[in-house]
Amino acid sequence: MQSQCLNRKASSARPCAASRGLTTRVFATAAPVAPSATPASAPLPLPDGVGEHSGLKHLPEAARTRALDKKANKFEKVKVEKCGSRAWNDVFELSSLLKEGKTKWEDLNLDDVDIRLKWAGLFHRGKRTPGKFMMRLKVPNGELNAAQLRFLATAIAPYGAEGCADITTRANIQLRGITMEDSEAVIRGLWDVGLTSFQSGMDSVRNLTGNPIAGVDPHELVDTRPLLRDMEAMLFNNGKGREEFANLPRKLNICISSTRDDFPHTHINDVGFEAVQRPDGQVVYNVVVGGYFSIKRNIMSIPLGCSITQDQLLPFTEALLRVFRDHGPRGDRQQTRLMWLVEAVGVDKFRQLLSEYMGGATFGEPVHEHHDQPWERRNLLGVHPQKQPGLNWVGACVPAGRLHAADFNELAAVAEKYGDGSVRITCEENVIFTNVPDAKLEAMKAEPLFQRFPIFPGVLLSGMVSCTGNQFCGFGLAETKAKAVKVVEALDEQLELSRPVRIHFTGCPNSCGQAQVGDIGLMGAPAKHEGKAVEGYKIFLGGKIGENPALATEFAQGVPAIESVLVPRLKEILISEFGAKERVKPAAA
Ligand code: HEM
Ligand code: SF4
Repeated sequence: MQSQCLNRKASSARPCAASRGLTTRVFATAAPVAPSATPASAPLPLPDGVGEHSGLKHLPEAARTRALDKKANKFEKVKVEKCGSRAWNDVFELSSLLKEGKTKWEDLNLDDVDIRLKWAGLFHRGKRTPGKFMMRLKVPNGELNAAQLRFLATAIAPYGAEGCADITTRANIQLRGITMEDSEAVIRGLWDVGLTSFQSGMDSVRNLTGNPIAGVDPHELVDTRPLLRDMEAMLFNNGKGREEFANLPRKLNICISSTRDDFPHTHINDVGFEAVQRPDGQVVYNVVVGGYFSIKRNIMSIPLGCSITQDQLLPFTEALLRVFRDHGPRGDRQQTRLMWLVEAVGVDKFRQLLSEYMGGATFGEPVHEHHDQPWERRNLLGVHPQKQPGLNWVGACVPAGRLHAADFNELAAVAEKYGDGSVRITCEENVIFTNVPDAKLEAMKAEPLFQRFPIFPGVLLSGMVSCTGNQFCGFGLAETKAKAVKVVEALDEQLELSRPVRIHFTGCPNSCGQAQVGDIGLMGAPAKHEGKAVEGYKIFLGGKIGENPALATEFAQGVPAIESVLVPRLKEILISEFGAKERVKPAAA
């Protein structure tokens, strides 16, 4: 299939760059690309005058009308013109044209570079690092093996200080510094180790999250890993992307929770499957829908009023995507997340639509579990016995989730030496090693890696989360990661706490760092200090996660992001609201 050329000037048809060699680095080459998928239902013929690569291809009549409506949002127009899934082809062509000097940045179509390439997982960081891309991966259930970790090191190593990576709040990886010229090599290298970046951005299903200690957790009802792997394969055509699901009205977050801790946060996902046990012992999944954050509205999921069996998980998810794609609103971008559709049609009708899309499938009643004992959400950091006798999982804190090439290599080496050769990454931006035998624990704890990534960090550092902030993200109103680490380390040094307090930093109201779920949330906002405009934060309090979730509410505005102001302010809050005590300094000898 010939891809449409991205270059306005060099628009003559040329072969895709897939078969060309690379000038800078050599990665093992995968088979030639067949980027498209196998749609389950034949697309309708396109209306007259609409190009063959239009995003209208898989939409039924009513959805086409919404996408073409005058009131449709800007992104609908971009998708009508050319489906985001074309980026799967375009990325190779563009990479090749740039490498061969046949096009220049100035000549590129901005809709392609700044918007459509996000479907291939490439985010141009034009405002902060022009010409450099953030590449967002898909890491279902946050599981990475040693070969994958080592490849990630290779992928960012050439880019110096701009070549780093972040663990994100969807237990995902974002690589930084990638150039367009190298993107083809990186994508092929990812495929070779069983990873992908396709459909990780824009209006697609985002990284699938589950229990980070799946398979080793003594309290899990089900191992979420195979479920999420199968879901990933179905949704994204085994890493090559699925065109049929590339034109959703908006992004969709999906997770499966398997314990009372609700590690993947079903309450803030568009779709949450909560494993529960029926009185007859069978494990089924209560479904909750509609949780999301935005600048204008933050809302927790609501029950869909049904449970589904394990066999229904995939057909149900597929049906849900089709229902969302075919019926979801495409007008005001602020009103296009799944919750708006659920509210527009009502929970009962939405459930009925799902059943119809599944050929009349029936669902179970929701299961109300009764627990005699209260449950304290578990801390994933530290050393914990697994359900397999004699083996442990070891959680280590990666401050603000920031990783460099050497870290990836060291994570791989430590995982191979002491554990099963793999790690899990978590929504709290940390890392877990699994299957560490009792006999190896002491030696493992002495590894230099854990000087940087402590297994037993301070109470506040262990619950600290941060989005990218304005170091790389153009939306950021404040720097987050570096500031967050400094501030929280200072607080850990000065205060003693008898309970965990989770502090979430996020650079702007988009709230990718989820300020609303933190016990304390800090959100980038304008502030004044000594009469001058400075970077600052709004402060939120009261977020709860786990069995009885709640969203934090605004507590203070315009707090300068200056350590000498921020540390005392947060100290005050920690003492008055969370029972923190000043550390007693040892008396001078
Ligand atoms: C229109 C609203 C939003 C915009 C424009 C936006 C924009 C962005 C951008 C630009 C990044 C990448 C920044 C970088 O690392 O260079 C990002 C990452 C991320 N955002 Fe947002 N964001 C929005 C809303 C949200 C919301 C509501 C959430 C959920 C609370 C969220 C969760 C995330 C996560 C988890 C990442 C890390 C990548 C991943 O794992 O998928 N975002 N966002
Ligand atoms: S919260 Fe704002 S600053 Fe942080 S990653 Fe999201 S868009 Fe960027």
